[in-house]
Amino acid sequence: MAKKRVAILISGRGSNMAALVKAAQADADFPARIVLVLSNRPEAAGLAFAAAEGIPIAVVPSKLYGKDRAAFDAAMQAELVKARAEIICLAGFMRLLTPEFCESWSGRMINIHPALLPSFKGLDTHARALEEGVKFHGCTTHFVTPGMDEGPIILQAAVPVLDDDTEETLAARVLAEEHRIYPETLRLLAADRLVVEGRRVRITPAG
Ligand code: GAR
Repeated sequence: MAKKRVAILISGRGSNMAALVKAAQADADFPARIVLVLSNRPEAAGLAFAAAEGIPIAVVPSKLYGKDRAAFDAAMQAELVKARAEIICLAGFMRLLTPEFCESWSGRMINIHPALLPSFKGLDTHARALEEGVKFHGCTTHFVTPGMDEGPIILQAAVPVLDDDTEETLAARVLAEEHRIYPETLRLLAADRLVVEGRRVRITPAG
């Protein structure tokens, strides 16, 4: 099967993007190829990593578009079409997408969120997990739908919350799991092994 062409959308550090890139490079049989790293912020640190790896990069500065989300999404769509992307991975992409954009990529766009959804949607997940006193925290990969952090869950990883955890130590423990489950999620999606049934995602056996 031909490798699926993947665009990764970032806004900052890009460590999840780097994990996806490395996973694709490390295994000749990885079913996906990263063909574009696209940022909505020109200063995103992850762009330098991608460029150094020889991956095409593009910037669509969301600042230029203000509240005009449709125009911003159209500009991004143009880059995605140019790169002939078949799958989008959001990796710390901190900008809401229009329902139309989400619908047009339905089943082909995934995200990683630093919490065990449906708990702690939105921002500052680690601080909120500590504040709520939960004993387990973690991360979730999911299909992207128009509602924020709401799409069908693909994989999750849990980590214990320790008595002496700070936001930083907890975030680091969760991030290590993000770097493990996001490449695994992309592998499953690119290999056509995910079946969405309502809100549930079934993983089919490797064929
Ligand atoms: C990651 O922890 C990711 O899960 C989170 O932002 C961080 C980006 O780090 N995403 C969200 O909060 C999305 N709602 P990275 O740029 O190093 O991958």
